[in-house]
Amino acid sequence: MLEGLLKNMEGGVFTVDLDKKIISFNKGAEWITGYCLEEVLGQPCDTIFNSNICDGSCPFEKTIKKNAPVNINEVVIQSKDGTQIVTSRTLFPLHDIHGNLRGMTVIFRDKTELKNLRQQLLQSEKLAVMGQLAAGVAHEINNPINGIITYMHLLLKNLRENKIDPETWKGNLELVERETRRIGRLVKNLLNFSRKTEPDLRSVSLQRLIEESLPLLEDQFLIKNINIIKHYEDKTPDVLGDFNQLQQVIINLILNAVQAVDKQGNIDINVYSEGKKGSECFVHFDITDNGSGIPEEDLNKIFDPFFTTKVGDRAGIGLGLSIVQQIVKAHHGRISFKSQVGKGTTVSVRLPTP
Ligand SMILES: Nc1ncnc2c1ncn2[C@@H]1O[C@H](COP(=O)(O)OP(=O)(O)OP(=O)(O)O)[C@@H](O)[C@H]1O
Ligand SMILES: [Mg+2]
Repeated sequence: MLEGLLKNMEGGVFTVDLDKKIISFNKGAEWITGYCLEEVLGQPCDTIFNSNICDGSCPFEKTIKKNAPVNINEVVIQSKDGTQIVTSRTLFPLHDIHGNLRGMTVIFRDKTELKNLRQQLLQSEKLAVMGQLAAGVAHEINNPINGIITYMHLLLKNLRENKIDPETWKGNLELVERETRRIGRLVKNLLNFSRKTEPDLRSVSLQRLIEESLPLLEDQFLIKNINIIKHYEDKTPDVLGDFNQLQQVIINLILNAVQAVDKQGNIDINVYSEGKKGSECFVHFDITDNGSGIPEEDLNKIFDPFFTTKVGDRAGIGLGLSIVQQIVKAHHGRISFKSQVGKGTTVSVRLPTP
């Protein structure tokens, strides 16, 4: 029971022996650091935590000497992918049942991820943003509605006067359809954004998820004649995820790629796992497009609610990536972008296995 508890708790827990070699490393530690258990077992902890978790101020001796817990706040560690993570940690000596000193246990938390606080804050921030934007949204919805009313009016007038020209009708009705869809999209996105839903986590095959999501986007691929190239690594394990929420992630990311490429653009989807075969701890999926790319100065804004560079006919709302980021975080995952203007963009999502 204790092992199960340790394995699945949100905080990171690892233990080292008297040579400072890692002898256990729970799921929480994997999520926070990006290292898999198999990679770190038997390694000295200072080679893993490329940072001041184990440098000159290594708390190992102090903990052992004091024979009491040591609390340390605000330690920046570097995760496997190079991200700096602020952690707080508690260290205590590890004894066996005979009371002999065997090593040290470290419990650490991702302070950048202080989940509850962050979520509350996010939720209230969102509400504030929504409040401010209510007027803007009303305006957004009002525009297409005005368009729809005008065209419906025209069509009714034509009908009354018996002037039914199929070409004009077709054009007008297409416009009405497009505008109605736009309202639908706006309302759906706003709902998704404001709803605070805990993911219903189950074992999910990313490959199946992608295969079931692509047909929903078929229209978009056809319009631009887009070339989809898929690489699925053999026998990738399932991830721990909420099928519907992850489908939203995939669809939003692929739609962004579709919107970024020109006609006959390429979109590559790459699914691969990380860690030892049979006990992988993460599955990644990368979506690469050869589209417009994202300017350096925009890269830190793309996750902001309502940030969009899409104007005109295919105007964006700027909620896609906010929703995606929210979902990925709730799955203990990570998302990152690499982009070059004029060359294209790769978005990588990392999700933990069960
Ligand atoms: N693959 C990509 N290539 C180029 N730019 C991108 C890509 N993905 C995202 N962006 C940039 O990030 C911005 C924000 O994306 P996001 O998905 O949040 O909003 P949006 O696509 O503009 O609107 P919405 O998704 O709500 O319809 C986009 O407007 C675009 O400038
Ligand atoms: Mg989008």
